[in-house]
Amino acid sequence: MLNDQPIGVFDSGVGGTSIWKELVELLPSENTIYLADSNNAPYGEKTAEEIIQLSVKNTEELLQRNCKIIVVACNTATTNAIAYLRKKYSVPFIGIEPAIKPAALSSQNKSIGILATKGTLSSSLFAQTSNLYTSGLEVVEITGTGLVERIEAGKLHDPETRHFLKNLIRPMLEKNIDYLVLGCSHYPYLIPVLKQILPTGITIIDSGEAVARQTKNILTRNGILNDSKKAATHELYTNLETEVLINLTKAVNCKKQIRYLDF
Ligand code: DGL
Repeated sequence: MLNDQPIGVFDSGVGGTSIWKELVELLPSENTIYLADSNNAPYGEKTAEEIIQLSVKNTEELLQRNCKIIVVACNTATTNAIAYLRKKYSVPFIGIEPAIKPAALSSQNKSIGILATKGTLSSSLFAQTSNLYTSGLEVVEITGTGLVERIEAGKLHDPETRHFLKNLIRPMLEKNIDYLVLGCSHYPYLIPVLKQILPTGITIIDSGEAVARQTKNILTRNGILNDSKKAATHELYTNLETEVLINLTKAVNCKKQIRYLDF
């Protein structure tokens, strides 16, 4: 029966649905529970201790709901809290980190941009990965302060967001990057706007698909893939308004319930 248990997913808010979508697509038989901790977003401006506390709160909520594996669909929570979570709990955890490696290995211009939160860019896990792969490369790191708030408010396409983003990434363009790494699970929702702003020849990389593949690998390795033929069910909870969560997941064709939950 273990295989019927849901995959738990959490993020500081609605952004992790960019990962959740990939999971639903790659693993259509798996039930999922998604927690959007929007009431505490953004995590990126909090201390590592606060991020750990919030990640523990979310994990406890998912474990109470019998989740067999937890996907930390947040770069900030992964880079600050996943080591702690793995020590404290026995379920497997899958995390998401900025995809520095593929960008660094593929860059012809030897110049890459990384857009992420302050919490991610200042973490020691990020520093370790960056040191490992970026020697001899120009790395333009930019903190996306204000972006998560805009996405949480559903302001994906308005002219102000576009203007804001354009100014934010200017230093990357000045350094002639050819790869832009999106190091925050909220940012894939900005890809349509980014494509309008960026000159041609810049490849945008995010880690959503890789996280879904890794989740599948770990479920397989642990013998806990759901082989049931029943249609999977998906419960998505937010501790703020449901509207943005509903809008962002509208296009995903699956059996889902979206509700407010006080967690
Ligand atoms: N989605 C989170 C991430 O990937 C956003 C962090 C925040 O709330 O600042 O880092």
